[in-house]
Amino acid sequence: MPINVAIIGTGNCAKSLVEGVAFYSKNKEDKTGLMNPHIGKYHPSDIYFVAGFDIDERKVGKKLHEALNAEPNKTVKIADVPEYDVIVQRGPTCDSVIPELREYFIHESDEPVADVAQVLKDSGAEIVINYLPTGSDKATYAYAEAALIAGCSFINCMPTPIAKHPEWQKKFDDAGLVLMGDDIKSQCGATIVNRVLLNLLKMRGIRITKSEQINYGGNCDHFNLHYRPEAKEASKESALNSVLNPDDAKPSARMVYTKNNYDHKQAKIKMEGEMFGHIPVSIDLTLEDEDSPNSGGVVNDAIRAAKLLVENRRPYLAKELCAFLFKAPPAQFPDTEALQKFREIIKSLE
Ligand SMILES: NC(=O)c1ccc[n+]([C@@H]2O[C@H](COP(=O)([O-])OP(=O)(O)OC[C@H]3O[C@@H](n4cnc5c(N)ncnc54)[C@H](O)[C@@H]3O)[C@@H](O)[C@H]2O)c1
Repeated sequence: MPINVAIIGTGNCAKSLVEGVAFYSKNKEDKTGLMNPHIGKYHPSDIYFVAGFDIDERKVGKKLHEALNAEPNKTVKIADVPEYDVIVQRGPTCDSVIPELREYFIHESDEPVADVAQVLKDSGAEIVINYLPTGSDKATYAYAEAALIAGCSFINCMPTPIAKHPEWQKKFDDAGLVLMGDDIKSQCGATIVNRVLLNLLKMRGIRITKSEQINYGGNCDHFNLHYRPEAKEASKESALNSVLNPDDAKPSARMVYTKNNYDHKQAKIKMEGEMFGHIPVSIDLTLEDEDSPNSGGVVNDAIRAAKLLVENRRPYLAKELCAFLFKAPPAQFPDTEALQKFREIIKSLE
């Protein structure tokens, strides 16, 4: 049984997700890089892309695989993608483009805006993935409304608070649909690495006196975050703060655009604390990764988990799964507890 997925924003993260699905569809025995080769009966090869929306003239009107390879997408290629017959539709712009993005990163299309709910219905989409630029709050809410009208679940991979909001959760619960978010927690990104190490320091009785994370990247997302960092930094800081005690120093997370890095990301993470006898201890590390593939595997799991929850008529359990998959979930748990909850819920539905 395929899982029919629609994508909002055919940028770098979408490219990695679709290429990753193509890779594991061709290499069904390869488990490397998958957190969960199967979720219920679902393997990544069960994911199928049936609709796509963008606003960039280099992507709108193109077939999905062509749009994903169009400028300014630059992330490393995982695999060739099969030719999808899906034509990327012109979505509503709302608040998703700041003037600076128009210079290179987004060339807004003149095509008329599609009826998003109708396109979703016609495509047979079950799950909508939101990959809009950070700061696109109005656009996110507009697409989420369209998803509800079309009877689709909604996975919010960016920081606009929606899964966190009980009113939005209720709307999706009442419709028997899943709402997951907010802001995908990359597979091995700065947030999870920083959280695990802070947690280690807390387990060992260290008082945190400094926790600083600086993220350097050169993709469109980082360019946008240079001008609109607030929601992303708040999302990262809340993820870090939730493992700390009130007497620890408040964590800080910053985003820096470095043009020639493209999708290659460097995160400089520094933690300082006091141990036995107030003696100082510090950890200083650099994480290097390709930003977009790092999110692909986690979204891949979220899609299959969402399908399983809807199929078993337990959409409301999505809230409990989010702590493992997202930076700013409806409720935060320590990562080991979040993983245990994720496994228990999935097992109970198999
Ligand atoms: N590891 C990661 O890369 C990671 C992790 C967590 C969260 N995220 C979040 O995921 C989101 C997507 O990241 P990305 O790197 O793919 O960004 P991107 O800029 O490469 O892609 C965004 C796409 O959305 C399109 N778009 C803009 N406005 C639109 C609208 N109104 N309707 C439809 N399409 C629109 C753009 O043209 C572009 O193709 C960002 O908000 C980012 O912060 C990424």
